[in-house]
Amino acid sequence: MHDCNDPDLVPRWFPIARSEEVEKRHVFHAKLLGEELAVWRDDEGRINAWENRCAHRGVRLTIGDNLGAELRCRYHGWRYLSGTGQCSVIPAHPGQTPSPAIRAKAYRCAERYNFVWVSLGSEGEIPEIATLAGDAPLTLRSIFVEAAAPVVGAALAGIAGATIRDPFTIETGDTIVTLLQPVSQGRCIIHAALTPAPSGDARLPVLRQHNERLSALRDAIERAGTGRLFDASTATTVDLYRRQVADTRLAYCVAS
Ligand code: FES
Repeated sequence: MHDCNDPDLVPRWFPIARSEEVEKRHVFHAKLLGEELAVWRDDEGRINAWENRCAHRGVRLTIGDNLGAELRCRYHGWRYLSGTGQCSVIPAHPGQTPSPAIRAKAYRCAERYNFVWVSLGSEGEIPEIATLAGDAPLTLRSIFVEAAAPVVGAALAGIAGATIRDPFTIETGDTIVTLLQPVSQGRCIIHAALTPAPSGDARLPVLRQHNERLSALRDAIERAGTGRLFDASTATTVDLYRRQVADTRLAYCVAS
């Protein structure tokens, strides 16, 4: 169950992983707006994002097995079909077809810009991000921050040259887009993508530089304290974060 009180945010699409993190035959654990998710890719490449809860006794599906076309719960072996989440097998009743009412709760999910996106609601579209619309961007290391998404967004917005596309999409410099994933109250993940993607040997220094700068940003934010999810930050708080970000000299551009 999500913990978001803002009805406009619940259906919004958010990135919850880099595409490369959701591998075949693996179950990825994510959290969005307080809702735990079992995210898995079937052998056809299709992504599923389900409530992390078996319909039988509520065991976490993230400890289950990705069988390629089905996810099997680790506890009593109930299986759920990719796509619909429909229960297909109940080992204790091998001769019976499970009721259509027995299914994993599936959320809308899709891949775009080399990220996996999820919406907990039924309306709305993935944000159009013109900067990332061309060739496949390079996704940079995602980083977890013990602070509410609006607080982190305010810190990112305080970086010189930043352009705020919306409260969760901020372009820093000309080439990096940062995307915020509100994990739960007071926690978020910063995802980032670089375009055009550098090639060959140029990638490693870029990834290192990004990691150092984003880690410094995280440390500055966490040192300053945390805010509550979806509370409006006071001007004083925002100013404090901006000063701390400036102190870390986060130009946040990429070395050529
Ligand atoms: S709790 Fe999942 S099969 Fe029983």
